[in-house]
Amino acid sequence: MSNWIKVVPLSEIPKLGARVVRHNGRDIAVFRNDGDGVFAMNDKCPHKGGPLSQGIVSGDSVTCPMHGMNIRLADGRAVAPDEGCVGTYPVKVEAGVVYLQL
Ligand code: FES
Repeated sequence: MSNWIKVVPLSEIPKLGARVVRHNGRDIAVFRNDGDGVFAMNDKCPHKGGPLSQGIVSGDSVTCPMHGMNIRLADGRAVAPDEGCVGTYPVKVEAGVVYLQL
């Protein structure tokens, strides 16, 4: 059974940046794009496990800081020609607070 969990005020996630949320021993990267779009995925690149939260957000993707793989924020899939996928989580923002469905 999954629940909506309150994780962080939106104001604490820098635009084009991320915050890491730890849940059940797992690190989840919560990204914000240049608007107020918020996305969440495991903080582990599908290539060799790089910390995606330290990557650069651009448009609708994040670039892994390790070897430059681009991962789509919306669905966690690598942008072609790369392949791979990282698990994502539903996100909602209510009254300026970010919730994840975990
Ligand atoms: S670990 Fe992310 S591109 Fe290699």
